[in-house]
Amino acid sequence: MNERPITVGLLGCGVVGSGVVQLLTEHAEAIATRVGAPVRLGPVAVRDPQRARDVDLEQLTDDPFAVIADPEVDVVVEVIGGIEPARTLVHRAIDSGRSVVTANKELIANHGPELKALAGEKGARLEYEAAVAGGIPIIKPLRESLAGDRIRRVLGILNGTTNFILTRMAEEQMSFQDALAEAQGLGYAEADPSADVDGHDAASKAAILASLAFDAEVLAEHVHREGIRAVTSTDIDHAARMGYAVKLLGIAEEVDGSINARVHPALVPRTHPLASVRESFNAVFTEGDASGELMFYGRGAGSLPTASAMLGDIVTAARALRAGERPNGQTVTTKPIRPFEEVDVQSYVLLDVADAPGVLAEVASTFGAHGVSIKSVWQEGRADHAQLLLITHRAREAALQATLTDLRGLGSVRDIASVMRVEGEEL
Ligand SMILES: NC(=O)c1ccc[n+]([C@@H]2O[C@H](COP(=O)([O-])OP(=O)(O)OC[C@H]3O[C@@H](n4cnc5c(N)ncnc54)[C@H](OP(=O)(O)O)[C@@H]3O)[C@@H](O)[C@H]2O)c1
Repeated sequence: MNERPITVGLLGCGVVGSGVVQLLTEHAEAIATRVGAPVRLGPVAVRDPQRARDVDLEQLTDDPFAVIADPEVDVVVEVIGGIEPARTLVHRAIDSGRSVVTANKELIANHGPELKALAGEKGARLEYEAAVAGGIPIIKPLRESLAGDRIRRVLGILNGTTNFILTRMAEEQMSFQDALAEAQGLGYAEADPSADVDGHDAASKAAILASLAFDAEVLAEHVHREGIRAVTSTDIDHAARMGYAVKLLGIAEEVDGSINARVHPALVPRTHPLASVRESFNAVFTEGDASGELMFYGRGAGSLPTASAMLGDIVTAARALRAGERPNGQTVTTKPIRPFEEVDVQSYVLLDVADAPGVLAEVASTFGAHGVSIKSVWQEGRADHAQLLLITHRAREAALQATLTDLRGLGSVRDIASVMRVEGEEL
C-alpha cells in the first residue's frame, strides 16, 4: 500500500485515549485495508507527560494546541472531556479544516449545533459515536441506517452507573447509599457521583439522541431531569410485585410536531426488552414507523468498548479524506420543545393514607377532578395506616402535579411517599 498515511492527533490519553492508542496499534493492518491507506498515531497531548502510562507514546506533549497546529495531523481525536479547553480545541481543529472525532457528550449536548455548523462550512467531519452509550453503535444507525424512517420515540438506559445501582437495589435489596458505595468501590461511580445519580450524564445523551432522531437542535438545558436519589427499595419492591422494573430512562419523543426530552426514573414492564438490561450495561430502544422496535444493547463505557466506537469514527473520517469528500453538514429543522408539564405520561403514585372507610374514594375523586384516570390500585393495610399504590393512564404532567397538590391538602393523606413515571406501556 503506497498511499500517504493518515495521521491522527490525539488530545487526551486517559481511559478512552489509551484504548484508542491500543486499537490503532493492534488493528493497524485491518484499519489500513478498510481505509485504503495506513492510519498512524501522530502527536498526543496530555496534562502531565511525565505520568507513567499503559501505552507507548513517542510524541507526547502538554500543549494540545500544538497537536492541532501540526501540519501532519489529518484527524483530531478529542478525549480530554468537559467543555473547556475541549470546545476551543475542537472549534480550532474544525476551523482549520480537520475532521474531529470526539467522545465528549457534554460538548456535543451543549455546543453541538455551533460545531456542526462550522464543520458543514469547512467541509470537515464531526463524529461522536462514543458520546452516547460508549461502545454501542447508535449515532450512525440514527443518522444513517434509519435516515429513511420516521422515528417516533427513543428510550434509553444511558448511564451504566445508575443502572448498576438500581440492579443492586432490586436484586440484593440494598439501599441506594449502599449500592452507591459499592459502585464507588468498583470504580463505576466517582467520589462526587452527581453527574451520574442526578441524571446530568444521561441528560446530555438524551439531548444528543433527540437532536439526531428528530433533526432538531436539542441541548442539555432542554432536557427535563430527575435523578435516582429519591428511589427507595420500597418503590423497587412495589414495582416488582406489580410486574415492573425501575430504570433511569432517557426519553426523546416527537408528538404533534414538538419534541420532548427527559431523564427520570421510570417503571418499565418486565416484559419490555429494557427491563432485562442489568448491571452497568446500556441499551437504546427506538420506535420507528417503518422499522418498528429496535434495541441496541452493550457496554456503555470502558476503555476498549468506547475506543471501538471511536475507531469506527476514525475510519469514517479517514475514508472521507481519501475519497476527497467534503461533507456539507446537515439541515436542522426548528421544532418546538415541549415543556415537561405539557407532556402526557403514565404515573405511579405511592401514598401513605389513614386506614379508614372512604379514603380510597376520596383519593380517586381527587385524581378524577383533574382528569387523571386511574388504571390500577393496590392497597396494603399497615397497623393504623395503609399504603395506596396507584398507576394512572397517560395524562398531562401538569394535571398530575395539580392532583398531587390537592392530595397533600387531604386530611386522610399522610404522605406522598413516591411519584414515578411508567414507560414502555401505553402510547
Ligand atoms: N471513560 C469512559 O468509559 C467513557 C465512555 C464514553 C465517553 N467517555 C468520554 O471520553 C472523554 C474522556 O474520558 P476518559 O474517561 O478517558 O477521561 P480521563 O481518563 O480523565 O482522561 C482525560 C485525558 O485528558 C488529559 N487532559 C486533561 N486536561 C488536559 C489538557 N488541558 N490538555 C491536554 N490533556 C488534558 C489527561 O491527561 P493526564 O493523563 O496527564 O491526566 C488524560 O489523559 C470524556 O469526554 C468522557 O465523557 C468516557
